[in-house]
Amino acid sequence: MRLKDTVVAVTGAAGGIGEGIARILLAEGARMALWDLSAEATAAVAARIDPAGDRTLALAVDVTDESAVARGIDSTATHFGRLDGLVNNAGTITMNAAWDATAAEWQRHLAVNVTGTFLCAQAAGRYFKQHGGGRIVNVASNAGKVGYQNMAAYNASKAAVISLTRSLALEWSGENINVNAVCPGGVDTPMLAQVAEWLSPRLDVPAAELLAGMGASGLGGRRIQPDEVARVIAFLLSDDAIIIRGQSISVDGGDTPY
Ligand SMILES: NC(=O)c1ccc[n+]([C@@H]2O[C@H](COP(=O)([O-])OP(=O)(O)OC[C@H]3O[C@@H](n4cnc5c(N)ncnc54)[C@H](O)[C@@H]3O)[C@@H](O)[C@H]2O)c1
Repeated sequence: MRLKDTVVAVTGAAGGIGEGIARILLAEGARMALWDLSAEATAAVAARIDPAGDRTLALAVDVTDESAVARGIDSTATHFGRLDGLVNNAGTITMNAAWDATAAEWQRHLAVNVTGTFLCAQAAGRYFKQHGGGRIVNVASNAGKVGYQNMAAYNASKAAVISLTRSLALEWSGENINVNAVCPGGVDTPMLAQVAEWLSPRLDVPAAELLAGMGASGLGGRRIQPDEVARVIAFLLSDDAIIIRGQSISVDGGDTPY
């Protein structure tokens, strides 16, 4: 119960890694606001992981909307009486060859993955500054360190999240605000399935076969599970990680050993 009596807001909590984060943080004792584009979708997650409903709050928060983010922080802190942590997990990907990528696709990656992360961190950071500190964990990607084909905008956006993590950690360390990131490899979620679906007709290989090959080679080729990423996030949110600051830790079974 590393997070007993803490309150954490998790963005992109309607499924995939977000649901894993919610499940693990709950098991670690946290109470949580689950944010995503649709409150119905986050309410469905809340009903699965917290049937009594007294430790979760489902909210519709588009992370690209500055006023919605401010309302999200306010509603979360008011509902639970405090806020101790933020997990910036919301993210988007659109596969395309760099030759064909449109400006709109590029902007969408930056809006959700970078600006969304910044706006949520800034709003939470302002709250933490006034209340003695807090913890922020950003979900970047090993794509921000190594880069993959047909996802130039996604790679660039995740590299920016890694850089932002360093900047915020440096600026806010003196306010007792600890900022770190995790960089997952291929995690078993709808996002990875989407990548396989896009590649399938282009490589003339069934999507299921491609998906089966998208695991971590260091883990014998199996895909990483959301709960495994979530356990590292729980650690980074806890007092045990207070000496780790501004780091973007690869959680990909050793495929990116830095
Ligand atoms: N799945 C992987 O292999 C993988 C690998 C590395 C990093 N990641 C990162 O992990 C995070 C979670 O990804 P996932 O695999 O669970 O994907 P997912 O598509 O299953 O979940 C992403 C969630 O973010 C939400 N979201 C998108 N735009 C939003 C917005 N503007 N405001 C609020 N919520 C929004 C979506 O509705 C969705 O619920 C993302 O940041 C992703 O880039 C995933």
